[in-house]
Amino acid sequence: MKMKGSKIGGGGANWTSLGLPSIFLLCLFFFLAGFFGSSLFFHQEMPSSLRPPVLEIAEEKKIEFEALQRGDSGEESVETIPFQILSWNPRALYFPNFATAEQCQSIIKMAKAHLKPSALALREGETPENTKGTRTSSGMFISASEDKTGILDQIEEKIAKATMISKTHGESFNVLRYEIGQRYHSHYDAFNPAEYGPQKSQRVASFLLYLSDVEEGGETMFPFENGQNMDASYDFRKCIGLKVKPHRGDGLLFYSLFPNGTIDPTSLHGSCPVIKGEKWVATKWIRDQEQDEEV
Ligand SMILES: *[C@@H]1O[C@H](CO)[C@@H](O)[C@H](O)[C@H]1NC(C)=O
Repeated sequence: MKMKGSKIGGGGANWTSLGLPSIFLLCLFFFLAGFFGSSLFFHQEMPSSLRPPVLEIAEEKKIEFEALQRGDSGEESVETIPFQILSWNPRALYFPNFATAEQCQSIIKMAKAHLKPSALALREGETPENTKGTRTSSGMFISASEDKTGILDQIEEKIAKATMISKTHGESFNVLRYEIGQRYHSHYDAFNPAEYGPQKSQRVASFLLYLSDVEEGGETMFPFENGQNMDASYDFRKCIGLKVKPHRGDGLLFYSLFPNGTIDPTSLHGSCPVIKGEKWVATKWIRDQEQDEEV
């Protein structure tokens, strides 16, 4: 007991003989060694914490949700179709990577041989002559059943899921090409009976699948987004408001009607002129009534 006690005492004497500055330096050394050592050790982990949180959430959800018991017409598994709400007025959603680059290429190839100058639905008093220049693209109509590759069928299926409106409500795909300088002045996809006469059915929503990137111009524009520019002075040829830049494989969905069935005035939209490159888009108009096969 005595020996031990004296040993400890001796040790204590040694420590104090080192002096306060040396102890301070020792502490500093271990602190720094620990600090840099740990930062080296964790260096590889750092970038993951800097990743945008959006990606992590998307990954988590995929794993987390378990499929419920389905009804006879339901589906077996949980599926994710990522989207961003671009606007509530009009109700517009953006779907990144809705289709693959290969699918887009194939649709363009299919359509290329059958392009014709795009037509307009004419209001009372309008003629092809006095509306010339409003819509200068070329296009063609093709239904999913006419496409033997099955790609349009897959796209149509996915649009039906994204909108929860059955594919029987969709018109044929209208595949359009805009070359440099070509555009579509602002217009409504829905038909106002006051201007176009009574309609058998009405367009509820439009889905645009961008088939190509456009180097410059060619944006889809919503001049009245959230009520802006709605005074009478708006020039319908002007490319203003919310603009969506085309990106191959991405989809844009917007609703032309309010839930109560009246036309949403902010759903006015158009295609800005292509400045550089070429714009290809596949449009699917979705109606409030089931469509006959040939429409
Ligand atoms: C329909 O809904 C819109 C938007 O909620 C509203 O502004 C409009 O007054 C409604 N019209 C009718 C006829 O109910």
